[in-house]
Amino acid sequence: MWKDWIRPLVRPLPQWATVAVAQPQQVVSATLRWGGQSADVTADHTVASLKPLMIATSVDAGQRPVLEYRDSATGTLLGVLHLVQAAPVVTQKASLALYHVAAGEHYCLGWPRRAWNAWLQNRQMQKSRTSHHFAMKPAAVQQLMIAYLCPRPVVLVSVDTPVHQNIFPMDLIGPLDRSGFFSLALRSTNVSMPVMRDVRRVVLSNVPATMKVAVYKLSEHHKQPLADWSALSFPMRRSREFGISAVAEALRVQELTIVHSQQIGSHTFFLGRIASDEKCAEGDQLHHTAGFYQAYRRRQDVPLTDV
Ligand SMILES: Cc1cc2nc3c(=O)[nH]c(=O)nc-3n(C[C@H](O)[C@H](O)[C@H](O)COP(=O)(O)O)c2cc1C
Repeated sequence: MWKDWIRPLVRPLPQWATVAVAQPQQVVSATLRWGGQSADVTADHTVASLKPLMIATSVDAGQRPVLEYRDSATGTLLGVLHLVQAAPVVTQKASLALYHVAAGEHYCLGWPRRAWNAWLQNRQMQKSRTSHHFAMKPAAVQQLMIAYLCPRPVVLVSVDTPVHQNIFPMDLIGPLDRSGFFSLALRSTNVSMPVMRDVRRVVLSNVPATMKVAVYKLSEHHKQPLADWSALSFPMRRSREFGISAVAEALRVQELTIVHSQQIGSHTFFLGRIASDEKCAEGDQLHHTAGFYQAYRRRQDVPLTDV
């Protein structure tokens, strides 16, 4: 049909794809390369801030490493981020490497569609600014999408004190395997951020992909606390040790003791230790990946399951 042919010429691909993937995702691997050395950081790198765009990892990869994303099944190079070292994140017991993203490119679309799609996406973003990449520069948003080549799991974060309760979605999260930390990058304007910094306890509910609509609805709680747990549209239960409300039908519930927090650009970067980890059910978890990666997989006839 002529419409299928004309559509990519006038309409950008969606920036993000919401997909159902089993945890931990193994479809894309991430490797840091520097000075003839390399390290697999698939489970050891995370976005620490959006503005400026920064990546944290346990691996000290020198001053100007590159971060490569490859399709695990075929080894095909999907995208690259060029990093520049910043001052490390220093905690009482360990330090983490922190990198500015200086440049990036992806190879999920052929040239010239790649450049044209980026131009269309940037134009659309400028017309309707959404807060997820609030006032980020167009180049930084393209780089962020490259960081999402590794599909990022979505969790619901619960905060529960006698005077403040909340639950909201996060995907700028993840294990930093070598250091044993689990990180959360939360916009410093989040209404629960000061509470998390003080009480140092949260619970992460790893939600099934089928809960997408309910999860998105909870994004309003980045700005306003939850009035009452019973107002939620799905059942909750107490977490094992902290007794904090967690999603009853979660695939996995992790209790996190926060050991460090600091502001990095637009975000507060929390580092925690997993205090308990309950695997409750098998199933695919809600993930975000880059729209151009899903388009690439569709062309190969192996799309991830859209939700
Ligand atoms: C699925 C999902 C994941 C999100 N992950 C994060 C996150 O990791 N960190 C963060 O600060 N905000 C996160 N947000 C919040 C958004 O960036 C945004 O602040 C929130 O949706 C409020 O939007 P608004 O400012 O337009 O009202 C997430 C939102 C959604 C829907």
